[in-house]
Amino acid sequence: MLFDTHTHVDQEEFDADRDAVIRRAQAAGVQWMNAVGTTAATSRKCLELAARYESVYVAVGIQPNYVAESAPSDWDTIQSLASSPKVVAVGETGLDRHWDDTPFDQQQDYFDRHVELARRLDLPFIVHMRDCDADILHQLRQARQRGPLRGVMHSFTGDAAMAAECCTLGLHISFAGMVTYKKSQELRDCAATILADRLLIETDCPYLSPEPVRGKRPCEPAFVRHTAECLAAVRGVTLEELAAMTTANARKLFRV
Ligand code: NI
Repeated sequence: MLFDTHTHVDQEEFDADRDAVIRRAQAAGVQWMNAVGTTAATSRKCLELAARYESVYVAVGIQPNYVAESAPSDWDTIQSLASSPKVVAVGETGLDRHWDDTPFDQQQDYFDRHVELARRLDLPFIVHMRDCDADILHQLRQARQRGPLRGVMHSFTGDAAMAAECCTLGLHISFAGMVTYKKSQELRDCAATILADRLLIETDCPYLSPEPVRGKRPCEPAFVRHTAECLAAVRGVTLEELAAMTTANARKLFRV
């Protein structure tokens, strides 16, 4: 049994055949998945999907690249949605220096808001990282001074030292399809070092399908099995062991 800890199954790429996508995930052993919001509207849509599909759980939040275009009232919406049944995390939040959609200080403000909302509701938070490893570590260290942290570095792309510090700060490390790519040897070496009780897997679908289905678009939750196979090989365990370990970690973190 597998747990895809980060999907965007609410997105329009799946509008034509969402039932089939969810069925294929179940057939592939994906018993649980998180639908992760990136705006107030998509967070609401993720909750609608969770009401329709038993296997779908939800994270609500405003992704850093969408903060600038969000209205102040959208944050109120996130706060009230966060107490809904089947909400298991706050996010995705984080920082992004690749795109220039939201001024960086505004991203930092919303990152803190998500961390504190998660703390208030005793939920984990989900961190998006892109081209700003040092900034994220700096902000997480400061947040840790205010109290214990519980969350996940999603689609992790940092190095082993960063992963180790994130774990020390209380976070889990989740790998997406990128870890399966030929050029990603460094990321695989990093994945081999993650503590067994902190490792998670995800597709981040519809983006970046894993090998050997890299050419298939959109990526879908059933493909998380390929990432699990890659990580099992990297860590020298069986697929069954890797699946059991990561699923247990996810169920404990998200209390599913
Ligand atoms: Ni995402």
